[in-house]
Order: sequence, then C-alpha cells, then structure tokens
Amino acid sequence: MIKSICCIGAGYVGGPTMAVIAQKCPHIKVTVVDLNEKRIAAWNDADTNNIPVYEPGLDVIVAEARGRNLFFSTEVDKAIEEADMIFISVNTPTKTYGVGKGMAADLKYIELCARQIARVAKTDKIVVEKSTLPVRTASAIKDILDHTGNGVQFQILSNPEFLAEGTAVSDLLSPDRVLIGGDTTPEGQKAIQALVDIYANWVSKDRILTTNVWSSELSKLTANAFLAQRVSSINAMSELCEKTGADVNEVARAIGMDSRIGPKFLKSSVGFGGSCFQKDILNLVYIAKTYGLNEVADYWEQVIIMNDHQKRRFAKNIISTLYNTVSGKKIAFLGWAFKKDTNDTRESAAIYVADDLLSEQAIISVYDPKVKEEQILLDLNYLETRSESDNKNGITVGDNPYGACKDAHAIAVLTEWDEFKNYDWKKIYDNMLKPAFVFDGRNLLDRKELEKIGFVYQSIGS
Ligand code: NAD
Ligand code: UGA
Repeated sequence: MIKSICCIGAGYVGGPTMAVIAQKCPHIKVTVVDLNEKRIAAWNDADTNNIPVYEPGLDVIVAEARGRNLFFSTEVDKAIEEADMIFISVNTPTKTYGVGKGMAADLKYIELCARQIARVAKTDKIVVEKSTLPVRTASAIKDILDHTGNGVQFQILSNPEFLAEGTAVSDLLSPDRVLIGGDTTPEGQKAIQALVDIYANWVSKDRILTTNVWSSELSKLTANAFLAQRVSSINAMSELCEKTGADVNEVARAIGMDSRIGPKFLKSSVGFGGSCFQKDILNLVYIAKTYGLNEVADYWEQVIIMNDHQKRRFAKNIISTLYNTVSGKKIAFLGWAFKKDTNDTRESAAIYVADDLLSEQAIISVYDPKVKEEQILLDLNYLETRSESDNKNGITVGDNPYGACKDAHAIAVLTEWDEFKNYDWKKIYDNMLKPAFVFDGRNLLDRKELEKIGFVYQSIGS
C-alpha cells in the first residue's frame, strides 16, 4: 500500500490534484515539490487566500490538509527519496527552438525529472505521468530509469488529468472518469492497482478506467482535441450566423438537444485560450506528421487556424465598427483571464486582441477581478510585437470596472466573469463617449437591456 506520495510540479495541476488526494487520503503523506521558491512560499502562505492558484473551494481544502498530510517544499531530492509513488506534473509547453519548434511538446522538464528520480531513488518506485505527454513518452522515461545500474525497479503509469481550470475542485472531487494506463505485465498490473486504490477512496470503481500506457497517453490529447474542435466548430458557424441572420445561441441550442451531439462546449466566443488546447493540438499535429499522416495533421490543424481567425476577426470588427480607426481611442477590456474563475491568462484571447488593437494605436484599459497588471504586461511583452515601454504606455490596468470604462469609446468583454452581468450599466454608459459601443466576446450581457440604455451592442454570431 502506498504511504508516501511526491508530486514534482506545484502548478495548476499538481497543486489542486495533490490537495484533493491529501484531503481524501489522510493516511497518505503527500509532498508537492517545485524548483520555483516563490510558488512554494505562496502555497505555504498562512493566509490561504494567497495560494498561487485561484480555484473556487481550493483554499478550504488546502487549509484542511496542509501541515497534516499535505506539504509543499523545494526539497525535491528528499521528497523523491521518501516516496513510494512519484507524480510528474511539470509543464510541457510547445517547443520554442530546434526541431519541432512551434509544434512539438518540449519534454526537457520531463526528462530532467526522470533523470533526477533515477539519480536519487534508492527503493522501488511507481512513477506516474500526470503531465500531458505525447504518445510513447513513457518508453523514454522508462529508458532513463532502467539505466541507473543500482537495481531499483520502476513502474511507469500514465494518469492524465482532465480537470478544467475554474472548476478544478469539483472536477477532481467528482471526475467523469479517472484514466490509468500501465504495463500489461503482472508488475504493471500491480502498479495500476496501487493507483486505483488511491482514487477509490472517493471515486466509484466504475469511473476508474484502466488501459495500456499508449491508449492512456493518446486519450488525453484526443480529449482536448475533441473539446477544442467543438469550440472551433461553433465559432465557424458564428461567422456564418452573422452573415445570414441566424443566431449562434439558437443554433447551438437546437443542435445541442440532439443527444448524439449534446449541449456542452458549444458556447461561441472570441476564441479558446488556456495553456493546453493549442499546445496539445499542435503536438497532435506534430505527432501525426512524424508518422507521415499528413491528412490527419491537416484535419486537426484546422481547429487552431479557425481559433486564430476568430480572435483576429474580433479585433478587426472593433476597428472597422469604430469608423476604421482606434488610434488614440480608449477601449476598455472587461476580463483578461482565459475563462472565468481562474487567474490563469496563458494563451488568453484577450492578449491577442489587445496586441492587434495596440498595433492600431488604441489605448487599452483593463479590469479583471483576478489578474494583476504585472501579468498583463508579461503576457504582452512575451509576444515581442513592440517594446516593453510601448506596451506599458498603451495599457492601463484598473482596480475597478467603472474607472476602467470611464471616457472609453468602447468596451470589449473578453472573459465571462459572472460579476460583469451585475454592473450598473447605466452608470457605465453615462461616463462613456458616445456612441458607446459594447463588443461582447462572450455573449454574456443582456442585449435588450444594453440597447435600452443606449449602447450599440455587438455579440458573437448574431
Ligand atoms: P504549471 O506551469 O502551472 O506548473 C508546472 C510546475 O512545474 C511549475 O511550477 C514549474 O516550476 C515546475 N517544474 C518544472 N520543472 C521542474 C523540475 N524539474 N523540478 C521541479 N519542478 C519543476 O503547469 P500546469 O498547468 O500545472 O500543467 C502541468 C501539466 O499538466 C502540463 O503537461 C499540462 O498540459 C497538464 N495539464 C494541465 C491542465 C491545466 O488545467 N492547467 C489540465 C490538465 C493537464
Ligand atoms: C481544458 C479541458 O476542458 C480539460 O478537460 C483539460 O484537462 C484541460 O484543458 C487541460 O488539459 O489543460 P481548460 O483549458 O482549463 O480545460 O478550460 P476549458 O473549460 O476547457 O476552456 C478552454 C477555453 O475554451 C476557454 O478559453 C473557454 O472560454 C473556451 N470555451 C470553452 C469556449 O469558448 N466555448 C465553450 O463552449 C467552452
């Protein structure tokens, strides 16, 4: 039976996942380690409002388990040595250099973890791939671990994570399924069982799926590709709706009631963001290409092409509606996070829309309930479209929405935060330049109410 778990990587996946395991398995010691000292210090902050990942409900779970059987530490070697089971939950971003640049997943952090485990481990370990990885990565990890020469035995499992940000806690507490892939050998099956036993503390057995390693690895990329594909599909229809008088919300409702299609993930938007959809699809495209499967690669690449188009056309529409120039005009952004209920901004559509508008010399003023100015500037600077000082001059970040919208020519809604619906929209209107435009990139606000106040309101797909 597993008594001690180590998780390498205290990010959006490692932190919440391990907090829930620790809460549900008080008999297991769970240590989450990271090289990032600032991040670990934030996880250990006495005030759980300051933990580095904002997720509804997570602060309560951390408060319950931390110091009891949940620990956050920078002592990676020590935690590896003590553990029977090691989760690797480090980042696997798109490569920014060399072969596969801009497409393949960068596995250097994964390999570093494998080498560190190989160097430090003195007793047998089960190593669990929690990060999202290209199919067949487990064989590379195994290769590294099998060459330690010290007789330590390793079993590699694939246990991809399906949580979505903003709903991580409820996704972890009641997952649609838990997927565990392992070797078909007796030792492999024993390792699978050890991980099944952990999840079985709170997940019913019929939701714990076991497969071979390759199916598990590939299922994760496939799930994200299918989900993102639905968003791009409805977004493609949104543009056609705008030309034809159809309303994308009505179309989504009509098709979603077909039980074969289903109602979820059909919300048209300014485009999907987040750290994973684009990265994982590009990785899938790259894998298909390496096997010479060019039609497969082209098919999935179209999901990304459509998404890029959706972000660009949102910015273009703002410019053309504002009489073909936004130069010197103040445009207020409500929301910067890639979706509501998270402080994560990775690949957020807001970044790309802002970048396009800044190139047209707009002045952007942002309000997001959970994102700070420092992050917004980092996001823009990362694109390297203009100098850091030009980005700083072009953007202001406010701590309240009314100030952010004051004297603006237009408001763009980039994230679907619930609070935006409840603002005093009359007050916002009164303080804007006229005509006062709202470009609702999330179809969040009430068109009738806004038009009655006097706004010129445009949404996606109608
Ligand atoms: P993240 O960037 O938030 O966290 C990764 C952490 O790993 C960082 O804090 C980094 O400092 C740390 N790290 C990297 N190399 C290390 C090393 N050698 N030793 C110790 N620490 C190290 O990333 P994330 O969002 O948690 O994603 C992690 C993985 O999970 C990715 O593969 C991602 O695709 C996958 N995933 C993410 C989500 C999500 O919602 N974010 C959901 C499912 C799967
Ligand atoms: C997604 C998947 O939903 C998770 O199952 C997966 O574990 C995770 O990626 C991952 O591998 O990282 P996440 O990116 O956190 O989770 O959030 P989603 O709810 O999937 O939203 C992704 C993006 O699509 C957001 O920008 C969201 O606003 C957008 N979206 C989603 C739409 O525009 N329309 C929709 O109908 C749904």
